[in-house]
Amino acid sequence: MDDLREKYLTLIKDAGDESGLEELRVQAVGKKGEISLKMRELGKMTPEERQVAGPALNALKDEINAALAAKKAALADAALEERLASEWLDVTLPVRPQRRGSIHPISQTMEEISAIFADMGFSVAEGGQIENDWYNFDALNIPGHHPARAEMDTFYMHRDAGDNRPPHVLRTHTSPVQIRHMEAHGAPCRIICPGRVYRADYDQTHTPMFHQFEGLCIDKDISMANLKWTLEEFVKAFFEVDHVELRFRASHFPFTEPSAEVDIQCSWEGGVLKVGEGDDWLEILGSGMVHPKVLQNSGIDPNEWQGFAFGVGIDRIAMLKYGIPDLRAFFDADLRWLRHYGFNSLDVPALHSGLSR
Ligand code: DAH
Repeated sequence: MDDLREKYLTLIKDAGDESGLEELRVQAVGKKGEISLKMRELGKMTPEERQVAGPALNALKDEINAALAAKKAALADAALEERLASEWLDVTLPVRPQRRGSIHPISQTMEEISAIFADMGFSVAEGGQIENDWYNFDALNIPGHHPARAEMDTFYMHRDAGDNRPPHVLRTHTSPVQIRHMEAHGAPCRIICPGRVYRADYDQTHTPMFHQFEGLCIDKDISMANLKWTLEEFVKAFFEVDHVELRFRASHFPFTEPSAEVDIQCSWEGGVLKVGEGDDWLEILGSGMVHPKVLQNSGIDPNEWQGFAFGVGIDRIAMLKYGIPDLRAFFDADLRWLRHYGFNSLDVPALHSGLSR
């Protein structure tokens, strides 16, 4: 029995892996294992012999089982240690920036705009690029006969002969999102609506698809003063300057009354645009107090609520900020251009980091 004990304890101690250990278990204490066979021999012994050999065999079996279990745990521990050592990763290491793709300047600009307005308590609303002419025109106080419809160079969707439903259009501006938002959420509200818009036009300063964002702020006592402050804050943050003059020029839009086009102060010294200095002016947006009919069309009582709206061309302010000379290049998908004007995807625009770094 001592030989058996010595033999198996040594073999177990030297086992290299779990399957080797399992073989040893079968060999020693399995049904036909050496120790099990010895236990069967107990039946042939005299009662006196059995009294000595029985407990000794049982103790040996227990000892072997315990050694097997301990070795099994030790092997598992060692395997885990080995895995931990090989899969080790220092998460505190800085990322090594590898620029493969880059963020398109329009996407970057939209992110910057959202960050600036989010800071002033505006949320982002989006609408579909296909609209019917109620949302794109009528609800915005642009009835069928209005000259603004002709000026917009609208893309109308195909309609089958005899189909009398209101025609669908590719939205010509982001203003319909105002209507949809007020209809769905009522007043008060404070939103910007960035997105793609479409007009049948193509030259150096026009593409059939371009980007706008709409701003809308409705409450009980919102005035042009709030509009002016909001736009000043936006222009300063967007162009990353401490001071800028805005010029409000009286204008006309069917959906606002009064209406104003807004110019920003700038200089063009040496062909380089500087916002916030000099005495040139650059038009960047249309705005005004939301027309009572527009509120009414959106289910909001104009005797109770009022507010401002504005619409800005995103492509244009991106060109101004980043010195991009030709609008059409935005949509050419030219990799060399994207590498030059694109942004690092790891630098997310944020006010605390100066937006564009
Ligand atoms: N929708 C106008 C356009 O595309 C832009 C605009 C002007 C939007 C004045 C407004 C606004 O909300 O108040 O030309």
